Amino acid sequence: TKRQKQRKVLLMGKSGAGKSSMRSIVFSNYVAKDVRRLGATIDVEHSNIKFMGNLMLNLWDCGGQDGFVENYLTHQRTHVFSSVAVLIFVFDIESREFAADVVSYGAIVRALAENSPGAKVFVLVHKMDLVQARLRSQLFEERVDYIRAASEGFRDTVEFFPTSIWDQSLYKAWTQIIYFLIPNARGIEGLLRELAEVVDARELILYERTTCLMVTHVTRGVEGQNPFTDRFERISSILKTHKQSMAKHTGIPAGSSNFAEMQIKTGRFMFFITRLTENTNLAASIPASEQIFNAARVN
Ligand code: GTP
Ligand code: MG
Repeated sequence: TKRQKQRKVLLMGKSGAGKSSMRSIVFSNYVAKDVRRLGATIDVEHSNIKFMGNLMLNLWDCGGQDGFVENYLTHQRTHVFSSVAVLIFVFDIESREFAADVVSYGAIVRALAENSPGAKVFVLVHKMDLVQARLRSQLFEERVDYIRAASEGFRDTVEFFPTSIWDQSLYKAWTQIIYFLIPNARGIEGLLRELAEVVDARELILYERTTCLMVTHVTRGVEGQNPFTDRFERISSILKTHKQSMAKHTGIPAGSSNFAEMQIKTGRFMFFITRLTENTNLAASIPASEQIFNAARVN
């Protein structure tokens, strides 16, 4: 039997920052426009998410209203902040009280350093779609410097991502978080590399089936120069949308609808996505040869 790894993940940030929205999109098959229906989270909403067969995510979606946060920091301090693997802190880029948000973040990070000094912190600077495109990177960098300075105990390890539920940036950030949590990512990568060599693929990308997040990828030869560096999360986003629309048109819940196979053939490359294991889909980019393509599919 496989041993299951339990990982406690805290999702925090002030009320309205977008925590429950992203959770619903990544793990519960909501589409972006559905999240307006969500109400404010009362206290903590717990979910247990099985990921890749042997990883159990213990996700604590912590309501961000001041009274709740006060309670996490005082009466519930050890209960909330002990045994934490990852803290995901969400900042709303449009917040009018950024300085106050950072003070609250500082208090939370201090509680974490006390109770789970080995935890990893990811900061998401969220709702970036609300900022004019040409101002985004500069504003993001400014916020990063300011927030890093307040990350006592985690200053050298904290990672930052700009995110929005309206594009693939959300998948990019969550892919990194998940990669950090998967216990055997290296091993999986090694096996995927062997498979890529056997079938002569230019690229193999492994996706977790429920979330459509990338687990890992192997890139070979000329494919290393592919200028579309966001292709991994773009495919996540496409798979997710496909899954949701299939669910809508067939009436089968998105969580259980089966993805059969998709193929694209061009004169320059061939591509397919198919189910690999119970928990994964595999995307394969193959040289433009029917022979190699067919052999790869069989394998
Ligand atoms: P609490 O549960 O009170 O702590 O709040 P929360 O952080 O869970 O906020 P929630 O997910 O409920 O989102 C609040 C609002 O933000 C919703 O109305 C969403 O539509 C909106 N929202 C979430 N993500 C984004 C985003 O990326 N861009 C924009 N423009 N709006 C977003
Ligand atoms: Mg919420």
